[in-house]
Amino acid sequence: MHNIRLAPSLLSADFSHLAQAVAACEAGGADQLHIDVMDGHFVPPITFGIVVMEALRNITTLPLDVHLMVTNPDHQVELFADAGASWISVHAETTPHLHRTLSRIRARGCSPGIVLNPATPLELAMEGAEGADFILLMSVNPGYGGQAFIPSFFRRCERLRSWLDSNGLQHVRIEVDGGVKIDNVVDVVRAGADTIVSGSGLMHGDIAANIQDMRTSITRAVSS
Ligand code: DX5
Ligand code: ZN
Repeated sequence: MHNIRLAPSLLSADFSHLAQAVAACEAGGADQLHIDVMDGHFVPPITFGIVVMEALRNITTLPLDVHLMVTNPDHQVELFADAGASWISVHAETTPHLHRTLSRIRARGCSPGIVLNPATPLELAMEGAEGADFILLMSVNPGYGGQAFIPSFFRRCERLRSWLDSNGLQHVRIEVDGGVKIDNVVDVVRAGADTIVSGSGLMHGDIAANIQDMRTSITRAVSS
């Protein structure tokens, strides 16, 4: 079993005090920062690009986990890698040449990941999984923080974990993104997720304490 990694999403941070949010994530023991890049085409909102990435890279040593919600990820992967990404994931719905895109991410020294929307068949990720270090299963339709968790995630995650394990791909992680909070994180981990994105569930009040509380819940559950 993989160690559990916590990836707070900066999407729900106070952007007028972004550096403080990053510092609080570090203080709380986050394993990486989840960076939601939206282009106004694949999803309606536009968030931020490499200028903000470079600024983040300058203020933290945490790995930057870039989730590309863009229609042409092939135009972006090298730019984000050079701006300091450690993980880069692309939606299978957006790239017709998945193996090539994943190879380009790896060639730039980053960990490649495949993202699936909640209604996208798991087979799309299975076909590309040999070239990936992680598969990101969306548990909401992407585009916004604060949406309700879609429960089909559980059966999808269990099936994917079991398929990866029985096909020599035990090393491939499963990341979950959308609607994960302290009250459902244990179920999500029990279904096989090992990398937990949480935005609105963590980025309010005392962010460091929220991260520590989530870690404590997970640690208690996996050791019991
Ligand atoms: C949604 C993004 C998520 C978002 C999650 O499209 O991919 O990373 O920040 O936010 P919560 O945890 O609030 O659902
Ligand atoms: Zn995301």
